[in-house]
Amino acid sequence: MNMYEILLKKRNGKELDQQELSYFVRGCVDGSIPDYQISAMLMAIYFQGMTPKETAVFTQEMACSGDMLDWKALHQRTVDKHSTGGVGDKTTLIVVPIVASLGVVVPKMSGRGLGHTGGTIDKLSAIPGFQTQISQEHLWRLLEKNHAAIIAQSGNLAPADKILYALRDVTATVDSLPLIASSIMSKKLALGANAILLDVKTGSGALMRDLDGSIRLARTMVEIGKAAGRNTAALITDMDTPLGYAIGNALEVMEAVQTLHGTGPEDLTQVSLSLAAGMLSLAGKGSFEHCFELAKEKLYDGSAFEKLKEITLGQGGDISYLECPKKFSLSPFQMEILSPSEGYLAHIDTLSCGLASMLLGAGRQKKEDKIDAGAGILLLKTVGDFVHKGDPIARFYCQSQSQAFAAREEFQFTISSEKPKGRTLILQKIGF
Ligand code: URA
Repeated sequence: MNMYEILLKKRNGKELDQQELSYFVRGCVDGSIPDYQISAMLMAIYFQGMTPKETAVFTQEMACSGDMLDWKALHQRTVDKHSTGGVGDKTTLIVVPIVASLGVVVPKMSGRGLGHTGGTIDKLSAIPGFQTQISQEHLWRLLEKNHAAIIAQSGNLAPADKILYALRDVTATVDSLPLIASSIMSKKLALGANAILLDVKTGSGALMRDLDGSIRLARTMVEIGKAAGRNTAALITDMDTPLGYAIGNALEVMEAVQTLHGTGPEDLTQVSLSLAAGMLSLAGKGSFEHCFELAKEKLYDGSAFEKLKEITLGQGGDISYLECPKKFSLSPFQMEILSPSEGYLAHIDTLSCGLASMLLGAGRQKKEDKIDAGAGILLLKTVGDFVHKGDPIARFYCQSQSQAFAAREEFQFTISSEKPKGRTLILQKIGF
């Protein structure tokens, strides 16, 4: 077997078998296949696609390219969640404590934000002292004690994905369904939870903007998870409008705390309860509807908030910020964006909102950029609200006027004389 033959086969649209896929993945990790052949393979996959079987095998091979974690010795059900990314998506901070407060173990590995989408690790970094780089031994102790930990992707999990993702980024092969599905699922499989809930976002701020594409991605990932013996399901959730009102790291932690006190935005509360219900149901706690009620109970009786404090304390964070969110310092330069006319706020372009927040300092354009934890956008109105000319729509938080002006250029919304249709938050459930 050699790489040239494998490339030729894929280029000609044939299905690769397990040995060939294994040869390719091993060669990526041990450096024996040069970048130009890996890139050619990525482009061949981009154009020829992969069969469901091929995608499942490829994902397994990527998952096995590094450490495979295993939580069996905890003798507890473990469940993981993955969001395909969005704007204002702070659900992890709400969902993980809800699920853990019901005794289900959540070893949650999260990412940092890049481009227009935020990352849970950046949000947690807004809490002074919160450590997300922790050893496996420490993680184990936290799971035993608190039933949950939220940590940064570290160690040697799915190293093949790191190599392939970096090359996809520079070869215009990111937006390939089998490559996205295998990239996400390889990390989930390596993390080792028994059950996996996928939150596949759809709409103007999502990786997949159209519903059909989101459904195809969700189905592919659910099939991969099931083929690997994991109880996997997906929810397709709306990301045509930012989730909640807060975009930016400290702002989002503050809104998550508000939601855990039962007084958060309706959309964020409903999506979080649905995700928690999905995770609990996959972990064997009963039907989706029953689990939704369980989740609601733990949200409104304060147990989930207490659990977030336990998780924070366990990871070195200062819980006084959760107890008194006014302690978070927001960036000093503030500017309000005013409505240019009277009418209904018909649409907020969620991608533009994420990009504006990044320009304010809440996100990074390049991996090495520094985040300003107090920067971001607080929406003062949401889609469907009636506004008068001059009413504030949003408040920007940043360090300088020039940042605010750049973000104002980016931020887009539509005012219309017609009231927009109501929003469906959960568009489909797949695999339940
Ligand atoms: N997230 C990932 O981890 N991989 C992708 O390819 C896209 C989003």
